[in-house]
Amino acid sequence: MSAPTTTQGGPPVAAAEFDIGSTDDSLERMIRLFAEHGDIYRVYVPARKAYTYVVHHPDDVKRILVANHRNYTKGVGLDRVKILLGNGIMTSEGELWRRQRMMLQPLFHRRVVGGFAEAIATATDALLERWEELARRGEPVNLTEEMSELTLQIVLKATFGRDLERMSAELGGNPFEVVTKEQARNLQFAYKFRSLTRLVANLIARRRTAGEEHFDYVAMLMSARDKETGAPMSERELIDEIMTLVVAGHETTASGLNWTWYLLAQHPQVEAKLHAEIDSAPPALERAPSLAQLEQLPYLRQVIDEALRLYPPGWVLSRRTIGPDVLSGYAIPAGTNVLLPLYLLHRHPRYWSEPDQFRPERFAPEHEAERPRFAYMPFAAGPRHCIGETFALYEMLMHVQRVARRLRLVHVPGPPLELEALINLRTRHPVIMRLERR
Ligand code: HEM
Repeated sequence: MSAPTTTQGGPPVAAAEFDIGSTDDSLERMIRLFAEHGDIYRVYVPARKAYTYVVHHPDDVKRILVANHRNYTKGVGLDRVKILLGNGIMTSEGELWRRQRMMLQPLFHRRVVGGFAEAIATATDALLERWEELARRGEPVNLTEEMSELTLQIVLKATFGRDLERMSAELGGNPFEVVTKEQARNLQFAYKFRSLTRLVANLIARRRTAGEEHFDYVAMLMSARDKETGAPMSERELIDEIMTLVVAGHETTASGLNWTWYLLAQHPQVEAKLHAEIDSAPPALERAPSLAQLEQLPYLRQVIDEALRLYPPGWVLSRRTIGPDVLSGYAIPAGTNVLLPLYLLHRHPRYWSEPDQFRPERFAPEHEAERPRFAYMPFAAGPRHCIGETFALYEMLMHVQRVARRLRLVHVPGPPLELEALINLRTRHPVIMRLERR
């Protein structure tokens, strides 16, 4: 591939030096720096004695994630994720990652994801039954906590299948609850989380001797084989992949649903239009609907796309150059950290009209051509894009469809809504909702 031509000098330098991407206030500062410098700038990071570059141009995004992706590894923040997830598919690189991706890819095909219909419907219906009772009693819910518990329940069921009940019965409760009960993502949490690996190791050992049939991710991972060598995953690899799916599969989806309900509650016209679509859906959608059936509700999908635009749970992608590259005409040295803030790309005024407004209609097919492909990517793009995208969308579509048919969620005003942009983009304080039967 021919290298783009370069401009002399480097991109604008931010006045303040700080560890961009790692500090709690990084998003706030990045919003200001983007307004000041535009598509590309750099920040001197004293701890690393180097510049971190920040890019917001769809052409640069495409180059980093797709056209020249072989020149990039993951960047800043990876160490923190590694403590939690070990060397699973989210954190590995090079040949190891390529092998893992090939072995995991079949687990996320539409057909396989469709097999989790009952797991998603059952978890949502249990929540709905509880919520209808709370609606009758006029009691509010902590939506943020509820979404975290729901998505955890779904991914655990998809991963462990009927062994989830067995583990919970043996241990007198769901051992994975620590994931939702503890909000901090510090070393202490990582220690508790990693201690769950013993349970997973026991489960693998039991499955190896019991020879029962299971339809779940543990079974699929255990029977996955490397295409080239025919080798199965080692116990360590299995554990890391299982822990990766539990974390990657729940926090992001929980955050997406938390924002979706919050935005719907703020926009009664959107909510009414969504209700009209859901209410006129064919009766086939009463039972656990398939993904294809849910796709017959285009506005529902647009609502979710728009929520993920305004509040992408993975709000910034982090990469590091292996060799030198050229971005927006500037030469970028080897070994440089580059940040791609999806939050800002999704609100770039050149590509989005009234970027801060919640307008699901912008995702209607007739508006598709109005923006470049690489201006919107809540699930990233290129070979390392989210492997769980179909799973996440199925779960979100089914949950919102089933709940919105029966209930309205009305926001109970609390402290002003603040963003917490750490690994995921969350609300700093929980969102509290009052439930109204429709
Ligand atoms: C709304 C929900 C979700 C969002 C917004 C989301 C977003 C993302 C993004 C942006 C990446 C790329 C990260 C990077 O390259 O730095 C990613 C990767 C990944 N996601 Fe998701 N995700 C979601 C749900 C899920 C679910 C449900 C699963 C699994 C059950 C999952 C599993 C993964 C895995 C394993 C990777 C790493 C893929 C690789 O490196 O090859 N995600 N996700």
